[in-house]
Amino acid sequence: MNEINNNPLQNNPENFTIKDKSPEESSAEVIIRMFPSDANPAGNVFGGEILKHIDMVAGIVAQRHSQSNAVTVSMDSVNFIKPVFVGNVLKLNARINYVHNSSMEIEVRAEAEDIVTGIKTVTGTAFVTFVTLDKNGKPSHAPKLLVKTDEDRKKFEEGKIRMEERLKHRKKPNT
Ligand SMILES: CC(C)(COP(=O)(O)OP(=O)(O)OC[C@H]1O[C@@H](n2cnc3c(N)ncnc32)[C@H](O)[C@@H]1OP(=O)(O)O)[C@@H](O)C(=O)NCCC(=O)NCCS
Repeated sequence: MNEINNNPLQNNPENFTIKDKSPEESSAEVIIRMFPSDANPAGNVFGGEILKHIDMVAGIVAQRHSQSNAVTVSMDSVNFIKPVFVGNVLKLNARINYVHNSSMEIEVRAEAEDIVTGIKTVTGTAFVTFVTLDKNGKPSHAPKLLVKTDEDRKKFEEGKIRMEERLKHRKKPNT
């Protein structure tokens, strides 16, 4: 009997093309309903629950851009601006701002919707850095980011400055 390999990254055909992409091509949106198990007894959703989804949607963008495995190396500028409540619909939008060699900065914006009133509130923002890995788990070159619009260019330059700043505070193993 044939064994089934459920790892989608290992099931990829060998002959696909990895191409440079614009931020738009890898952008992602996820929509999740918030349940009581996601929140404290007062109904406020845990920050950690939202972080999990931020990491997940940023990972979709990183893997779409790199067309390879990619892992989180840092998360910063996480701001919970307004509360998210049980019953809200949480919408996360993620886009890639900047690519260096193997590292990629992904920006995530979180918005909560009260589906009874229809009121939508921006509740959080974060920057997540992913590193693309080769089949041996080593950092590898990510495709180039094709900046096409004025907004792409602005976000690329801002992302570059943030990445330089981030690396000044980077913790290396055994430090
Ligand atoms: C990702 C990993 C393989 C990188 O290994 P490393 O020895 O640090 O590799 P390097 O020093 O060559 O760095 C690779 C890239 O990561 C970037 N990087 C590493 N740490 C970083 C940080 N804290 N913030 C931003 N970028 C970082 C480097 O700048 C470099 O980017 P570049 O290739 O674009 O120049 C290693 O850190 C790792 O396995 N981390 C755990 C990742 C993981 O499992 N995350 C899920 C949660 S546990």
